[in-house]
Amino acid sequence: MNISVFGLGYVGCVSAACFAEMGHKVIGVDVKSSKVKMINKGISPIVEKDIDVLIKRQVDEGNLSATQNTTKAIRDSDVIFICVGTPSNSNGSIDFSYVDRVCGQIGRALKYKKSYTSVVLRSTVLPGIPEKIAIARLEENSGKKAGKDFGFALNPEFLRESTSVYDFYHPPKTVIGELDEKTADILEKMYRPIDDKIFRIGIGEASMIKYSDNAFHAIKVAFANEIGRICKEYNIDSRKVMQVFTSDVKLNLSPYYLKPGFAFGGSCLPKDLRAITHEAKQKDIAVPLLDAAMESNMEHIHHALDMVQKNGRKRIGVLGLSFKGGTDDLRESPIVNMVEQLIGKGYKIRIYDKNVSMARLIGSNKDYIKRYIPHIAKLMSDSVQDVLDHSDVVIVGNQAREHEAILGDLKNGHKIIDLTGLDNANNGNLKEVDYEGICW
Ligand SMILES: NC(=O)c1ccc[n+]([C@@H]2O[C@H](COP(=O)([O-])OP(=O)(O)OC[C@H]3O[C@@H](n4cnc5c(N)ncnc54)[C@H](O)[C@@H]3O)[C@@H](O)[C@H]2O)c1
Repeated sequence: MNISVFGLGYVGCVSAACFAEMGHKVIGVDVKSSKVKMINKGISPIVEKDIDVLIKRQVDEGNLSATQNTTKAIRDSDVIFICVGTPSNSNGSIDFSYVDRVCGQIGRALKYKKSYTSVVLRSTVLPGIPEKIAIARLEENSGKKAGKDFGFALNPEFLRESTSVYDFYHPPKTVIGELDEKTADILEKMYRPIDDKIFRIGIGEASMIKYSDNAFHAIKVAFANEIGRICKEYNIDSRKVMQVFTSDVKLNLSPYYLKPGFAFGGSCLPKDLRAITHEAKQKDIAVPLLDAAMESNMEHIHHALDMVQKNGRKRIGVLGLSFKGGTDDLRESPIVNMVEQLIGKGYKIRIYDKNVSMARLIGSNKDYIKRYIPHIAKLMSDSVQDVLDHSDVVIVGNQAREHEAILGDLKNGHKIIDLTGLDNANNGNLKEVDYEGICW
């Protein structure tokens, strides 16, 4: 392919050199003449392992060059990668002016170009920016339509500085935020030799993946350091703790606990989180991340309550009362918390939970209900039909198997508020009824 790369910083230099090494013809473009001159002399403008050798070789072989002539670079390219900076403003917002400006330049050159050209945004951009800034400027300045007259894709970059050449050839994943099939096909073909994990998804999802990645990586570092500070206080070897912790790929380093859904609860997570944060406070160890987990959980319950309140209707049916399907344990169930708040606000509630059915309960759980939540026990019914007949709004509180079947039978007129992701289990069929998911 004939490629141009706009922006010769870390991402642009590595992409340009590595694409050239893969056999493409690459023109780098930068507003800084010094960077352009360096590339043309075969010298790397950035300090990165292995990049000097790559740039020198590809410039010598005539596969890589650089220019400040935007129009010429665009005229000679099938694919244009945008790798300009998106720096932070002092208030934390992002300065997208470089993306804005470069898309204006590219748009003006596309106006006169006859052959189909794909513009690929590789810079890190927030959801909405590809459409509101990149595509908007390209269309305004070219007088052409994205997806029809020229191609567009968002292709976030996951390389790490200091190992970026290695990361380019061994990416953790390849993400293509797709607008037109043709551009996504071209990108898939370009990346196939270095990655078989290629995700073609929507542009919004692609931009959010990059932010989810980096937010999670930041949280991982902060988490390990907070655990480390607590360990040090007890003279415990934190590195040993985290070594064993990370060896658990079933619950710790795995998709488990990473599905958007309802708040956590039950007899362990809240109790143990409170215990360790309380202990840290006693020892004057600041653990703001661990503290924030509880606060975030409460916010999530408020968010679910808001969804019910915004709906306005007062007759509520709740399917599932325990903190997760398949158990009758009600201790610290977030749905119990939610039901109590709804009762306080005057909602009329009926509840169905096969596992918590009073008729079946024995032992400690029966005692728990009688002692702590007798007012909720009164609202429980053993008949699903009774609960559905009573309700305008049906809240799915946990992911018990039987709820899938019940929801399949719901009629028009019911509003479903799903805290669990049952629409996935129903292959999206629930979208036909008045359905709202808590995070989707
Ligand atoms: N650095 C990383 O490790 C990394 C990793 C993944 C993603 N990213 C993202 O990639 C993007 C680029 O990051 P970077 O670190 O390479 O940025 P950088 O600041 O090092 O380089 C950006 C380059 O773009 C040039 N430029 C600006 N406007 C231009 C224009 N109109 N035409 C041509 N060139 C122009 C600048 O002169 C500069 O050389 C950012 O969105 C960043 O968040 C960076």
